Amino acid sequence: MKKILVIGSAGQIGSELVFKLREIYGDDNVVASDKCPNAGKKLQEKGCLFEILDVTDRDALREICKKYEINNIINMAAILSAVGEKKPTLAWDVNMGGLLNVLEVGRELAMEQVLVPSSIAAFGPETPADNTPQETILRPKTIYGVTKVAGELLGDYYVQRFGLDVRGLRYPGIISNETLPGGGTTDYAVEIYYEAIKNKKYTCFVKEDTRLPMMYMPDCLKATIDLFQADFSKLKHHADFNVGAMSFTVGELAASIKKYIPEFKISYEPDFRQDIADTWPNSVDDSCAREEWGWKPSYDLDAMTQDMLKVIGEKYEKGLI
Ligand code: SER
Repeated sequence: MKKILVIGSAGQIGSELVFKLREIYGDDNVVASDKCPNAGKKLQEKGCLFEILDVTDRDALREICKKYEINNIINMAAILSAVGEKKPTLAWDVNMGGLLNVLEVGRELAMEQVLVPSSIAAFGPETPADNTPQETILRPKTIYGVTKVAGELLGDYYVQRFGLDVRGLRYPGIISNETLPGGGTTDYAVEIYYEAIKNKKYTCFVKEDTRLPMMYMPDCLKATIDLFQADFSKLKHHADFNVGAMSFTVGELAASIKKYIPEFKISYEPDFRQDIADTWPNSVDDSCAREEWGWKPSYDLDAMTQDMLKVIGEKYEKGLI
């Protein structure tokens, strides 16, 4: 039976993934963890098993794994691209130190699997920007991207060298309505919906023609769980799968919102995050994910916009945001 530890359970993906995993594997078989005790209280109020854990503390990680007889780890703790540029050494410590701890504890305790995410941030300005191939030039310009490329290589190393089952996805920008993202470049694609509901206007920190690969949270959860459940013997890749869902400019995103909120207005004040966005692809080729574990997204831009505006609109009416 699977006993899964989710690290970074208070974050944008972790906070939703924990509940999806509980539905599939049972409430007693999923342990949420995060370094933030307040988030822990919220998760415990919803019935989750919870432990305070800083992923950079290998001894604490090992103890929690032993206590709950964990045999699968999903590590969602990370410093994202924008915060990483402000605190590069912290990004290295959390992203690389945390990853090494997860891989080492996975190896020491002979875990069934560890799932460790990568990102479109693994790509850089020399990478072909359209329909970016699975195998391509990986020369990122952000510290976040550097840790993601190193993480992909380290994950593959643990597969080959130690026979540990390590898997990971290159997540595009993730759009969701439960927990706000924490300090990434693609955060505008979430903020825009909240501002559209609250103020009918948004000032975007990247330009109108900035195009990036994006994915709605239900597809993100599906991709994560589909890869988690995939047959290891069918995987040719391990810690670096391209996964695509949609690709749009900010202008197209604003136009999609205007279909439902005609008075919505957008303006642009690009900041340092524009430079990061300019080094990332427009869209990715995810045929390896489709072939090796059957990846198929469900949401396009308008379907996502309708759902986002409905859910965030309901929260606003109830005074929750
Ligand atoms: N959403 C992330 C970021 O913007 C990309 O993986 O940093």
